[in-house]
Amino acid sequence: MRQVEQFEKDGYLVLPNFASAEEIAALRSRIAELVDAFDPKSISVFSTTNQKKTSDQYFLDSTSSVGFFFEERAFAEDGSLKQSKELSLNKIGHALHDVDPVFRAFSRSPKVASVVRSLGYSKPLPVQSMYIFKQPHIGGEVVPHQDSTFLHTTPLTCTGLWWALEDATTENGCLWAQPGIHTAGLQRRFFTQGGHVTFDKPAPAYDLPAFLPLECPAGTLVLLHGENVHYSCANLSAVSRHSYSMHVVEGAGGVTWAPDNWAQRGPGNPWVPLYES
Ligand code: FE2
Repeated sequence: MRQVEQFEKDGYLVLPNFASAEEIAALRSRIAELVDAFDPKSISVFSTTNQKKTSDQYFLDSTSSVGFFFEERAFAEDGSLKQSKELSLNKIGHALHDVDPVFRAFSRSPKVASVVRSLGYSKPLPVQSMYIFKQPHIGGEVVPHQDSTFLHTTPLTCTGLWWALEDATTENGCLWAQPGIHTAGLQRRFFTQGGHVTFDKPAPAYDLPAFLPLECPAGTLVLLHGENVHYSCANLSAVSRHSYSMHVVEGAGGVTWAPDNWAQRGPGNPWVPLYES
């Protein structure tokens, strides 16, 4: 079966050997530089006054910047970090693909564009990127979800590109996905309302035994259909599971970006397509 047909049937596709060892090293080394320069005290996300409002605003602003987000279990009761900042971050997002030269070069490389083109996009807009650490011992679980919940277009056009930058195993929190579930459609939305972010309904119950682990070596690209349901478990092992992800939506053909999506760009700062054809 052709790879695109497999992707359309399963709602995901695992492509080993996509990123070279040199590309992985460049991304990881750049992240190490960003973390080294990051002062945890520079962000007020964990200020005690009106914490939800402050943290929501930091999250919303990260759509066009490089924001730092901690693991929930990174902190001691007094609010201090229990381990070094390098081992405390959950993710960095959400515009590395735009504002960081190393991530921009990888995210917009011809081979990335070629994969996206094979999925039929005319004007793919990369609307979000994340470097995910899945730290040893404290890496949090990501509950079952659909990416189109967070990145809504009419009609739905989201695809996720997820790269393993370290070997991903069931021990360190690999992705799990259910083949074919994307055909059941979108279950719920996440949107902004009065400066806050919220869901329109509770998460549905999923049949977890029907999910398969997507264990894969570093360098693998996993394509995720926007309505695919996937999750990852907490990392209780001593080994991290770094990954990089980017999401694209269609920007042509009358497709509209929901005005209440969490991620919004102004006219002076539009999303830049990978290509236009
Ligand atoms: Fe996801």
